[in-house]
Amino acid sequence: MLIDSHNHIYAEQFNDDLEEVMNRASEAGVQHLLMPNIDVPSIDAMHRVADRYPDRCYPMMGLHPCSVQEDFREQLSVVERHLFQPVRKYIAVGEIGIDLYWDKSTLEIQQEAFRQQIEWAKALKLPIVIHVRESFDEVFEIVDELHDERLRGVFHCFTGTLEQAKHIEAYGSFMMGIGGVLTFKNGKIDQFIHELDLNRLILETDSPYLAPKPYRGKRNEPAYTRLVAEKLSTLTGKSLEEIEAVSTANCERLFHLTFEHEASSAPLPDHLDG
Ligand code: NI
Repeated sequence: MLIDSHNHIYAEQFNDDLEEVMNRASEAGVQHLLMPNIDVPSIDAMHRVADRYPDRCYPMMGLHPCSVQEDFREQLSVVERHLFQPVRKYIAVGEIGIDLYWDKSTLEIQQEAFRQQIEWAKALKLPIVIHVRESFDEVFEIVDELHDERLRGVFHCFTGTLEQAKHIEAYGSFMMGIGGVLTFKNGKIDQFIHELDLNRLILETDSPYLAPKPYRGKRNEPAYTRLVAEKLSTLTGKSLEEIEAVSTANCERLFHLTFEHEASSAPLPDHLDG
């Protein structure tokens, strides 16, 4: 069993064929889908998918850095209201972070929104799902400062350097999300992924974006998590079964999920619990 730990299947790109997309995910062994939120307008669509597939699709709540604009305080108050209500369960605060590719002028308010949402995650004992784009220094500065025993999470769609990966491993409570970029010729992480601790890696697609080879440039979908798992297997020399078992166990540990599946003999460090 595989988990797609990051996708936006509530996006309009899936309006016409969500059922088929979910069926193809099942056929590929991708049983569970974790859904980061984007902003206030995306919340209803995400909830609808979560309600339609309650045993497969799990929502998160957060404000994406690219949606941090003039109205970010109003949007954050809606995010806060959702996070702290007792009815609906969210598995993480996400996605949050800093993006300096699209807009450098909003850095200051992105930092403010990121800090605020980290504090909420700590208060709720939820993991954070971090979006980093051309902003490792800025993100590390904040995570270094706010990191304590309550903070855990994932650097989603990790595309950094070996040094940056080691920085993340050193936190002890953070994972890296590995997606389609691993299959790209110029993706770079394929060069050193074998040097990383497999117990720190989870799989994702970021659907509908970043489809792996041979679908690069097309719409991505959760079934392609399997292509990422296969590439990781090839690059690390580990069996596909081990990649599946360990990445699923990592996901369960990070997000405090427990799924029924065959017991795995893979070693599981337990210091991410709690
Ligand atoms: Ni995303």
